[in-house]
Amino acid sequence: MSSTETLVKDLVSKYGKSRNSLMPVLQGIVQEERYLSEEAMIFIAKELDLSAADVYGTASFYTFLDTVPRGKNIIRVCKTISCHMTGKDLIIETLEDILKVKVGQTTHDKNFTLLTANCLGWCHKGPVMLINDEVYPELTPSRTTEIVEEYMKNATH
Ligand code: FES
Repeated sequence: MSSTETLVKDLVSKYGKSRNSLMPVLQGIVQEERYLSEEAMIFIAKELDLSAADVYGTASFYTFLDTVPRGKNIIRVCKTISCHMTGKDLIIETLEDILKVKVGQTTHDKNFTLLTANCLGWCHKGPVMLINDEVYPELTPSRTTEIVEEYMKNATH
């Protein structure tokens, strides 16, 4: 049995075999493996008695459930209206410059993936980005650079 299959089985026995277990199981996989492989989705479908299309549909609806391999740190810049109006484009440009990738891409060293996200619930303090689970509000280009450089430093230690 592959480690993914074992993980799926463990999660299903933890959350149960009902359809309501789909989300926690998907999240559990992403937490462990950092993304949802096709293999994982097929095992989940089998275990929960759902079609693979069903599982894939749910996974791709929730963009937080990545279906391609991602970097160690996931940066998500809010692209919704308030953050748009307070300058998210400039923040994205800054990030693209420092990381040398475009939105949707992962750096060569697999340290960062740059993504956008819908409203993160910090509209009054935009522009906002999320790095992994950490929220960074009221960004300016220089603040953004500082924050990312901090993550870069930690990565080399
Ligand atoms: Fe960006 Fe709400 S619009 S956090």
